Amino acid sequence: MSTPTTTRQRSYPKDFLSVLDFSHDQLDEVLGLAAVMKHERNLLNHAPTTHALRGRHVALLFEKPSLRTRSTFEVAIHELGGQVLSPTGDAVFGGRETIADVARNLERWVSAVVIRTFAQSRLETFSQAAPRLSVVNALSDQEHPCQAMADVLTLIERWGDVQGRTVAFVGDGNNVANSLAQACLGLGINVHIASPDGYALDAADALRASGHARFGAHLRLFVDPVEAVREANAIYTDVWASMGQESEKAQRDAIFRPYQVNDALMAAAQPGALFMHCLPAHRGDEVTDSVIDSAVSVVFDQAENRLHAQKAILHAIVRA
Ligand code: CP
Ligand code: NVA
Repeated sequence: MSTPTTTRQRSYPKDFLSVLDFSHDQLDEVLGLAAVMKHERNLLNHAPTTHALRGRHVALLFEKPSLRTRSTFEVAIHELGGQVLSPTGDAVFGGRETIADVARNLERWVSAVVIRTFAQSRLETFSQAAPRLSVVNALSDQEHPCQAMADVLTLIERWGDVQGRTVAFVGDGNNVANSLAQACLGLGINVHIASPDGYALDAADALRASGHARFGAHLRLFVDPVEAVREANAIYTDVWASMGQESEKAQRDAIFRPYQVNDALMAAAQPGALFMHCLPAHRGDEVTDSVIDSAVSVVFDQAENRLHAQKAILHAIVRA
């Protein structure tokens, strides 16, 4: 079997700002590589990818809090032989200089930056200002593509053949829902999203995700959560108020209450349906303890798979 190092296609984009940056072939290849890397992790220093980032630095630039994303990127970079640089958030996003100038500086020192910020356009500004720098989206208000890669890796592990299955996302049509739809549709998984009026996935995002669908997979938007989960083989939810929406929390709690994933909603899905959540979870709000702690919950597999998926993404896009 060829090692992951030899399977990398030189045609990968320099950035990973969206799942849609990968062609279908690249999506398949990176997920395959992530599975190999997960398996090879037991080999420690003997894994073929141990030196993939040797001699290179990767900067982590986070404008919002993170447990999973920051931790898994740090571990991923170390395990690929690279070094982590973590400038303080105020030095990068505090307005001392333009984002483009921050990018032009970092390009002289590091091979890649992993950015968590608000507007997706900030990531694009960063990428355009630094043509030799790989930029990875570690969550924006619009997308969370690294999360989605870990999510579909988890589904592939659980289901084997994922084509024709259905994932129902119940809650806010947010960054996680958007990237999940892109990744699932790209693998031939149907996506149903149930949201209250006014909180549906953005129509332009829905159109873009649908344009990426393979094998006849469909995206359907619902208001009624029970209707959305009826054909679902997995139910996914996320917080009702995302980072940056804290002032709307009380209002959103009231609006989203009927969208809680509880035992009754799980019972309305297909037999054996999985429960998924990107975490952090607000137990008692979008999900009950009885569901998140149940045997069908795969939330910590998703969290583990952040590491393997991100190693594969970095390996694919970061250039020598
Ligand atoms: N799921 C996720 O991105 O977690 P963090 O916000 O802790 O990074
Ligand atoms: N939608 C959430 C995801 C957190 C991982 C947020 O943006 O805060």
